[in-house]
Amino acid sequence: MNISELRKKSMICLIQADIENPALNVELIIAHVLQMKRSELFLSLNITLPTDLVQQISDFIERRSQHEPLQYIFGETEFYGFPIKVNPNVFIPRPETELLVEKIFQKDKAATLILDIGTGSGCIAISLKKLIPGCQITATDISEKALQIAEQNAKINDVDVDFILSDIFEKVVGKFDIIISNPPYIPKNEYEDLPVEIKEFEPENALLAEDNGIFFYKNILQQSKEYLTENGKIYFEIGHDQAKRVKQLALDNGFSEVDVLQDLNGFERIVKIGRKSSC
Ligand SMILES: C[S@@+](CC[C@H](N)C(=O)[O-])C[C@H]1O[C@@H](n2cnc3c(N)ncnc32)[C@H](O)[C@@H]1O
Repeated sequence: MNISELRKKSMICLIQADIENPALNVELIIAHVLQMKRSELFLSLNITLPTDLVQQISDFIERRSQHEPLQYIFGETEFYGFPIKVNPNVFIPRPETELLVEKIFQKDKAATLILDIGTGSGCIAISLKKLIPGCQITATDISEKALQIAEQNAKINDVDVDFILSDIFEKVVGKFDIIISNPPYIPKNEYEDLPVEIKEFEPENALLAEDNGIFFYKNILQQSKEYLTENGKIYFEIGHDQAKRVKQLALDNGFSEVDVLQDLNGFERIVKIGRKSSC
C-alpha cells in the first residue's frame, strides 16, 4: 500500500469515528511512524510502504479512532520545546501551561528555591530548571506512577529536580521563593461533560477538584505562609472562570498583591500572588 492509499483509508476510519481534524491526525500519525516531517509526506505519496509500517500506522489509527490522545499513542510530547514522555498515568502537558513557565522566567529569574506542587510529567519543574539552571527545584505529586515518569523526563532533559511523593505540602520541608501549581481544578459537575479524550484517558486525580474546583488553591494558600520566604510568591494556573474566586481566597489569606494574566485565547489563566513589597 502506498502512502496516498493509506492516508485515504485512515481518513475514512477517523471520520467514521467522529475524530476532529481527521486529516491532521492521520498525517501526524503517518509522519510520526515514518519519522518524517508532515510537510515531507506530500512529496512521498507514491512511496509503497513495507507491511510492518502499514500495520503500525493502522494500529495507531485504530487507537486514535477510540479517541486515545495522540500524545499517549506516541508516548511523548513537547513542552516549551523540551521532550516530555507521557503515559496514561500522567496528565498531558498543555500549551497554556507554557505561559506559567514563561511568566516566571520573565518576572522571577532571580528565584533560587522553587516548589512545583502536582508536577505530573514534571514539565513545569524541568523546563524551569532548564531556563534557570542556578535554581533548586523541588516537585511533588501524590501519584507515585506520575513521579516515575517525571524522573525519567528529568533524566532525558539532563536536569536535577528533587521529586517528592507528597499530598500537597505533607512531606515538604523548607521555604521557597516561588510556589507554582497547576493543580486539578475541574469541578465535579463539569467533569462528566469533558471530551472523551480527556475523561476516558487522563487520570481523574489530575483533573477533578472538590469545593467546586477550588480545593487545591484554598489548601495551598492556607498553608503557604509556612513555606514561603519573606518575599515569596505563588503562581497558579487556573480554570477560565476561577480568577475571581482565587483572587478572593488570596486576599482572605493575607496576600495583598494579586495579578491575573490572560492566555493567548484571552482567558484568565495565570494568577500571581504575593505581598505588597514582593510583586
Ligand atoms: C493538572 S495536573 C498538572 C500536571 C503538571 N504540573 C502539568 O502542568 O502538566 C495535576 C497534578 O496534581 C497531582 N495531584 C493531585 N492531587 C494531589 C495532591 N493531593 N497532592 C499533590 N499532587 C496532587 C496529580 O497527580 C497531577 O499530576
